Amino acid sequence: MTAAVIRSAAPTDKAAWLTLWQGYLAFYGTELDEAVTAMTWSRIIDPTSPVFTRLAVVDGVIAGFATCILHPRTWAVEPACYLEDLFVDPASRGSGVGRALIDDLIATGRRDGWTNLYWHTNDDNATARRLYDSYDKADGFVRYRLPLRK
Ligand SMILES: CC(C)(COP(=O)(O)OP(=O)(O)OC[C@H]1O[C@@H](n2cnc3c(N)ncnc32)[C@H](O)[C@@H]1OP(=O)(O)O)[C@@H](O)C(=O)NCCC(=O)NCCS
Repeated sequence: MTAAVIRSAAPTDKAAWLTLWQGYLAFYGTELDEAVTAMTWSRIIDPTSPVFTRLAVVDGVIAGFATCILHPRTWAVEPACYLEDLFVDPASRGSGVGRALIDDLIATGRRDGWTNLYWHTNDDNATARRLYDSYDKADGFVRYRLPLRK
């Protein structure tokens, strides 16, 4: 397999992104209202939104995505980047696509002066954690998450 090319999502990528997005939701065993998916896509392609997506393209096929939110901080002048969603098509896994997506974010953040790139994962997501542990160890913070909607 040739190396992945990483680029920003464009409006014409909608169908390919949607296929991967549905796979990502299935991985988490969840479904979202179509209105939520539509809003997420509109945020991704809105250049004024802090939400952005980088796509991995392998041999001309979109094989994975990283969706992030760039946000202001209280502890620094510069923003931090939260990696909210990372997904690689099952057929393309284990070939460096996930690593290429993270490496791209690191390079972008260094170029643009983000203070850090961070993300969460499930404790038992061993495949993802093998990849993540190769960058750094988890920082030991514990997440509290209060549902506010019925
Ligand atoms: C996690 C995920 C994004 C990794 O993508 P990927 O393209 O398969 O990852 P890579 O090929 O870049 O793997 C990088 C490293 O992870 C490890 N790894 C990934 N898949 C592996 C596998 N199936 N078996 C063993 N190690 C694996 C290896 O240590 C590899 O290291 P290397 O670069 O030294 O070979 C992908 O498995 C995925 O989409 N999983 C489902 C969704 C998910 O869990 N998302 C993350 C939620 S936080």
